[in-house]
Amino acid sequence: MINFDNSKKLVFSNTQKCVFAKIYKNKEILKINKKWMTFAKMNISIKLQIQKRKIEYKNNENNTKAKGEISMDFTGKNIIVTGGASGIGKAIVTGVVEGGGHAIIVDLKLDAAENLREELGKDKTSAYKVNLANSAEIREVFGKIVADFKQIHGLINNAGIVSTVPFDEVTQAEWDKVIAINLTGVYTAISAVYPSMKANGYGRIVNVASVAAKRGGGLLGTSADAASKAGVIGLTKAVAREGAPYGVACNGVCPSLTMTPMTANMGEEKTKKIIATIPLGRGAQPREIANMVLFYASDLASFATGEISDVDGGVTMDG
Ligand SMILES: NC(=O)c1ccc[n+]([C@@H]2O[C@H](COP(=O)([O-])OP(=O)(O)OC[C@H]3O[C@@H](n4cnc5c(N)ncnc54)[C@H](O)[C@@H]3O)[C@@H](O)[C@H]2O)c1
Repeated sequence: MINFDNSKKLVFSNTQKCVFAKIYKNKEILKINKKWMTFAKMNISIKLQIQKRKIEYKNNENNTKAKGEISMDFTGKNIIVTGGASGIGKAIVTGVVEGGGHAIIVDLKLDAAENLREELGKDKTSAYKVNLANSAEIREVFGKIVADFKQIHGLINNAGIVSTVPFDEVTQAEWDKVIAINLTGVYTAISAVYPSMKANGYGRIVNVASVAAKRGGGLLGTSADAASKAGVIGLTKAVAREGAPYGVACNGVCPSLTMTPMTANMGEEKTKKIIATIPLGRGAQPREIANMVLFYASDLASFATGEISDVDGGVTMDG
């Protein structure tokens, strides 16, 4: 920590001086005192900004960007967001609209999607009802979406459900349902828009997986959740590999505990237990996950494909 003494002058410990000396290569540091001050001030400013962001994110339950944060540019882009009516999906839809794009919400909950459209603007959003457990329905509705819009630039496969029971209590019906929505639904949605993206020579696909895929569950979701999300990661890489020559990028994002309706009712004790395993010591706000998704959906990620990013407060830290 860098301290101020009572006269508000910067005071450096010997360790800090050593660190600065290393950075400025010993011989320079003795001569250029001003650089110490600049470096120290920079450090303080960064720490204050991080602190401010933490507070902003804590208060950022309405999913908008934090103060001073830039929006990704989605001008002229049509982006499908599955599960866009709630939680992380709602934050993604908000980010697309903030960036000047048109968000196409695909969800089981049409009322919630329509409420969000009222909030964000009906001209900037559309909504379609789909049950992602039903492949025929996905093909029919996605076919309509592709026909309704001149071009689909992005597809965010965000919708999902969680399964929390121990392995020996998972029924065949539960297993089938989780795989149908979390994995087969993602495959079917991609396969419904992929040909048009390929023909246009442009597409940004982002799949929301989970830390459960990498850890074998263990936070909230268990085996069916972990297996479905691991499948999503494999699918992401395969689509990235095959889509690359046609300008179709596909990336994945793995959240850990995120404060959404999915996790709202799991109880204080379970929540505390999960938070204790997260190095950053808290759950994410939906927008913090959405920000990474929005990056991959944007042209800022022009050289990224097949990448799986953990946005998990430090839970995974894989190389
Ligand atoms: N919240 C977390 O802690 C967490 C952690 C890891 C991964 N995830 C993943 O993030 C994604 C979003 O989760 P969330 O927390 O925002 O959940 P949420 O429950 O708040 O929202 C999920 C949305 O998906 C929609 N949906 C669910 N089943 C559907 C179906 N069969 N057909 C159409 N729409 C359907 C719901 O209606 C809802 O709008 C999911 O894929 C989830 O697995 C969440």
